[in-house]
Amino acid sequence: MLATERESLRREIAELAEKYEHKRDGMLPILEAIQEKYRYISDFAMQEVARQLGVFPAEVYGVVSFYSYLSTEPKGRFVIRLCRNLSCDFAGKQAVARQLENELGIGFGGTTRDRMFTLEYCNCLGMCDHAPALLVNDDVYTEVSPELVSDIIEHYRRTFGPTYAQKGGLHG
Ligand code: FES
Repeated sequence: MLATERESLRREIAELAEKYEHKRDGMLPILEAIQEKYRYISDFAMQEVARQLGVFPAEVYGVVSFYSYLSTEPKGRFVIRLCRNLSCDFAGKQAVARQLENELGIGFGGTTRDRMFTLEYCNCLGMCDHAPALLVNDDVYTEVSPELVSDIIEHYRRTFGPTYAQKGGLHG
């Protein structure tokens, strides 16, 4: 990370800390804001959050590692989260998982080389009556079949292609 980038991140974190009155309760929303903007939380960001809130860095590391949607590695512009719980399992989650891996050319926990997609498992999305279910960022998809996986991926590739992704045209 360049010195100028560090300085601007430092300023952003200082502003966020100010907004939350440097209180420990502000830690999660601050981390969420950093994740939303940068798609990951760097070591430097975690140390800076700790400094601004007057807590030990280990406490910030603990929060980041507890919440699966917070990441210390850069994620794709679209994070696909497939539910791995029982109802989805019975409804064919495994075939959906294989199709996702084939379509994207990555395994679970991976990110495509163009940083367009990250693939993860998640816990129950509350859509058990319409399993299998997955999320693409905040969009919910239910009764997902392997065929639907292709359509979903195609939709994001077509609508938000690499050029759009690089420009940061969505959520970014
Ligand atoms: S078990 Fe998958 S949505 Fe509930």
